[in-house]
Amino acid sequence: VVALIITPRVEQARVWRQLLSERLPQMRFRCYPQLGDPAEIDIALSWKAPKGLLGSLPRLKLVYSLGMGLDHLLDDPSLDRRVPIVRLVDPNMVEQMSEYALYSTLYFHRRMDVYERFQREQRWEELPLPHTPMRRVGIMGLGEIGADCARKVAALGFPVRGWSRTRKQIAGVRCYCGDGELDAFLAECDILISVLPLTPATAGIVNSVTLEKLPRGAYFVNIARGGLVVEADLLDALDSGLVDGVMLDVVAEEPLAPDHPLWTHPKVRITPHIAGLTNPYTAVEPVYANLKRFLAGEALQHLVDRGRAY
Ligand code: GLV
Repeated sequence: VVALIITPRVEQARVWRQLLSERLPQMRFRCYPQLGDPAEIDIALSWKAPKGLLGSLPRLKLVYSLGMGLDHLLDDPSLDRRVPIVRLVDPNMVEQMSEYALYSTLYFHRRMDVYERFQREQRWEELPLPHTPMRRVGIMGLGEIGADCARKVAALGFPVRGWSRTRKQIAGVRCYCGDGELDAFLAECDILISVLPLTPATAGIVNSVTLEKLPRGAYFVNIARGGLVVEADLLDALDSGLVDGVMLDVVAEEPLAPDHPLWTHPKVRITPHIAGLTNPYTAVEPVYANLKRFLAGEALQHLVDRGRAY
């Protein structure tokens, strides 16, 4: 069985190859762009494969996403819909994402955005500190990542709301679901954190209409995908005071263009898509376990439902 490892940085692909070859000596691993004969490749382990590449592998039997998001695979029309896709579920990455959610919650809750400015202005001034049980935090998306974020933010004493496509139950979290409950959810988010997958149903979900539903002066954090947000609407909401601060780890076009207004907006904090980074040293275990199942002809874990697109 031959597997092709595709990552934008070939050094990363080599790390994967090393870790997987040690565990699966019966398989052969190649690192893109060293394809060899495309007709020999059975499995693609892929993070952001060039569009069309997967479709050019005639024997492909399985695609393994090397990131938690799947949009990089599902928006490639060349990939035959019958080829099963497996999601990477890396507990280490889930923890990293929750750390970012906790950090951004505390950052805005404790007004660090304003105190940073005060320091620059050498201003010694105290702001009112809202009581933690009054600061409602909303998590959009309650999959592996969102559920962990919700539990951990709740553990700090914040009232947590969650919203997802299907009904979820998480102890200590008030869960809303579907389009019908979106407005009620948004109305209770003093801090809104997005961890939604990017699908045709969620693209542009954060826009002038939905931002209007937030309590005035809310904060918005996006650690999922830039395509969830209509950026012009977000900038308008910041300028009108509807939204008081945002922290974005992802933007519609990455890297963010040098002249993009988000870079310099005083109410915007930007990080370069680092909230959760795939670490092959921890992520290798679930991948290894699943590849072993594949070799044994057993059912795979974390298979993607192509109908739902995540
Ligand atoms: C990162 O954005 C990922 O989907 O793993």
